[in-house]
Amino acid sequence: MTGDARDDGLTRIAFRPPVEADHRRLVDVVDHWFGRPVRARLGRMWFEHFTGTSLVGETLDPRSADPDLPRVVAFLVGFASPDRPGDAVIHLAAIAPEWRRRGFGTAIHERWLRDRAADGAVRASVVIPPDERVAYLFYRSLGFEPVTAGSRPLWGVPAFADHEGDGADRAILTRGIAAPS
Ligand SMILES: CC(C)(COP(=O)(O)OP(=O)(O)OC[C@H]1O[C@@H](n2cnc3c(N)ncnc32)[C@H](O)[C@@H]1OP(=O)(O)O)[C@@H](O)C(=O)NCCC(=O)NCCS
Repeated sequence: MTGDARDDGLTRIAFRPPVEADHRRLVDVVDHWFGRPVRARLGRMWFEHFTGTSLVGETLDPRSADPDLPRVVAFLVGFASPDRPGDAVIHLAAIAPEWRRRGFGTAIHERWLRDRAADGAVRASVVIPPDERVAYLFYRSLGFEPVTAGSRPLWGVPAFADHEGDGADRAILTRGIAAPS
């Protein structure tokens, strides 16, 4: 297995485009991975129509009963904006809780950003609830900046009240993507 993350045996990860069978696997665990109900946002369509702009990450767990069986421990579903050429959009991304803080989140995003740059994207964005502190700090660590124009501070973060409907405040984070050299 090859991978982009820190390579200390327990932390190798390999990426591939999702297949439809990944949907059932992930929709059953995604609420647990997020710690809130998001499964309605992970429709099967992402695994049917957006596989070219999405990734799953697999790793081997030498501690498990079946150490040769790759496990899906990461996903990122996204798309190239049809209306805003050059914009790559992250819809949902997560790492299995027991595999966090090993660089997997960084690795899957960096791989996705490289792939999108190769497709011609120049900018990436993600929309998150402003009270999701870990997600905010994570995207800041990747160089994403919050959109401030028209925002107001919510939970200490520049955000947009009721952005996705009543009570659904959101922060929008963006970063440029360098063209591959
Ligand atoms: C956000 C998430 C993807 C991060 O995945 P991860 O594999 O743990 O991230 P990494 O190990 O690559 O962390 C990179 C950096 O992000 C920041 N970070 C990650 N988790 C953090 C935490 N719990 N607290 C503070 N900072 C954190 C740190 O700066 C970290 O660098 P460091 O480990 O050198 O300090 C993961 O926590 C997750 O799946 N959360 C639930 C789903 C979610 O919020 N998705 C994003 C919105 S779509």
